[in-house]
Amino acid sequence: MCSILGLDSDHDVAPDLVKSLKKMEYRGYDSVGVAIKNDSSISIKKGVGKVNAVNNDLQMDKLSGHMGIGHTRWATHGKVTPENAHPHMCSTNSIGVVHNGIIENYLELREDLEKNHGVIFKSTTDTEVIPNLLKIYFEKSHDVKKTIMDTVQKLKGHYAFVALFNTGELVGVKNHEPLILGIGDTDLILTSDVVGLPENISSVVYLENNQFIIIENHKHKIFDFTGHVAQFTIKTLPKNYQNVTKGSYKYFTEKEIFEQPDSILVAGCNDEHLEKIADVVKNSDYLYLTGSGTSYNIAVIAKYLFSRYAGKKAEHLMASEAKYSSQYIVPNSTLFAISQSGESADVLEAVSIGKKKNAKIISMINSENSSLARESLYSIGLNCGPEIGVAATKSFTSQMAILYKIVDNLCDGCITLNFKIISDAYKKILSDTSTIQELAKSIKNIENIFVIGRGIHYPIAKETALKIKEITYVHAEGIAGGELKHGPLALMDESTYVIVINPDDDSYVDNISTVNEIKSRNAKVIGISNKEHPSYDYWIQIPTIAKAFYPLIEIIPLQLISYYLSLERGIDPDYPKNLAKSVTVK
Ligand code: F6R
Repeated sequence: MCSILGLDSDHDVAPDLVKSLKKMEYRGYDSVGVAIKNDSSISIKKGVGKVNAVNNDLQMDKLSGHMGIGHTRWATHGKVTPENAHPHMCSTNSIGVVHNGIIENYLELREDLEKNHGVIFKSTTDTEVIPNLLKIYFEKSHDVKKTIMDTVQKLKGHYAFVALFNTGELVGVKNHEPLILGIGDTDLILTSDVVGLPENISSVVYLENNQFIIIENHKHKIFDFTGHVAQFTIKTLPKNYQNVTKGSYKYFTEKEIFEQPDSILVAGCNDEHLEKIADVVKNSDYLYLTGSGTSYNIAVIAKYLFSRYAGKKAEHLMASEAKYSSQYIVPNSTLFAISQSGESADVLEAVSIGKKKNAKIISMINSENSSLARESLYSIGLNCGPEIGVAATKSFTSQMAILYKIVDNLCDGCITLNFKIISDAYKKILSDTSTIQELAKSIKNIENIFVIGRGIHYPIAKETALKIKEITYVHAEGIAGGELKHGPLALMDESTYVIVINPDDDSYVDNISTVNEIKSRNAKVIGISNKEHPSYDYWIQIPTIAKAFYPLIEIIPLQLISYYLSLERGIDPDYPKNLAKSVTVK
């Protein structure tokens, strides 16, 4: 999604803004821009492309002035063009705005501004109505606080924006999209994510919905939308959220895959909520598991674990589909929302639907101060540190590990997980990736790939296909092994590759039958297994562990296949086209 920034300092802000924008790029990387106030004028530089490229072209970081705003964009309204890049200015260039989210009624507002106020719009975004509304109200009242209160009355939708006034005020507004204030010795910074904060800032205030903040003369005041002064708490950030770098790795995706032997050891660790969450589940008649993308695949895995090992009535509910099936949410149920960011709009919508049905909300997230955390009765933290690569990797394994812990709690220790064994298995797989790199080289020109798995391995197959689509642009499909013969087999010929997730558990024998059906159609089989089989064209070996835990380790070579295939195809896995890390719009 987009990232928004606002910075007030006692020195030139453009270099720091550009540095922060670079760190926030994972939220959107179509285009970028800054606007800086100097005396009573605002200078703006913006362009299409990633931060470094646009900065090399336009020297955004050379602008001078002590107050400014910045933006990286993931297009929702209007194509990726320089005109549509943020910041957007009002018609007199006296107010600039960067925005994240959607103004649902922008067409109506735009028409009114054009007809009744003679505004000539320069972009096709929904954003540009905001600076123009601000200007109209500010000209009437000359009062920034009143201007904001009047403007938010007009706006419909979920949004956060930062506005820069040439009169010297920096304003942040939050309505269902994230906005955080960072407080330093000389700096006050508004940001969509703590990842964007300069290294020296660790004190933060998480704005609540329907609040706005006015920064003026290096001081700040927070109000609610009715104009009352709002109370706030200053929190200190955990160390690992500052200055997130790639270290010795070339890509964040690579770093995050290789961090898993450590991150798995601390998944949900010391979390007092683990038992409380298990209790909530125990006392509910029905459990609904929701999430989007990778987190939805985890929801499907969760359904297997809760029903198989804890005998719980459970159903997965794709977050973006929840509103079409909410009638099935029965009384005394729990909605378990799974989300790395805790900010996905679809997940938050599913939660609000669940709340309307009186479901208890529990969640599993990587950001303890996210919107989802605030909507939950209890939430458990993944503890895996910031995940920057667009493709979810370490968050997926941490989510799964926590599920095993919760389910183990419910079934009195029937699947106790030895994290050390899992961590060692990861180390073993990651210590020699040469076979996988060779495989990636030999399949780099494929156009289609199928991934099959049965039972709990089916959502792993779906997750693998998602990863491959996302970072290699190869069409990939995850299929339940038994379903191949009911249709997809028609697609098999000598040019087809099929990854078979085949650990030595109760799905093994059935999978071997499927492998033989695939081989009879001359397609190639890539077996992911602890056991070799003569029908595999490629065998990616995984260590032998207790059967119940194979999903946790088989995903590692599958992530690696996606990663190395991405490199072979010349793609930057951290920033695949058209995507953004945190999707805060519906
Ligand atoms: C896939 C991926 C996405 C996210 C999805 C939900 O690699 O990262 O599919 O899983 O957008 O995001 P969260 O978990 O933040 O709600």
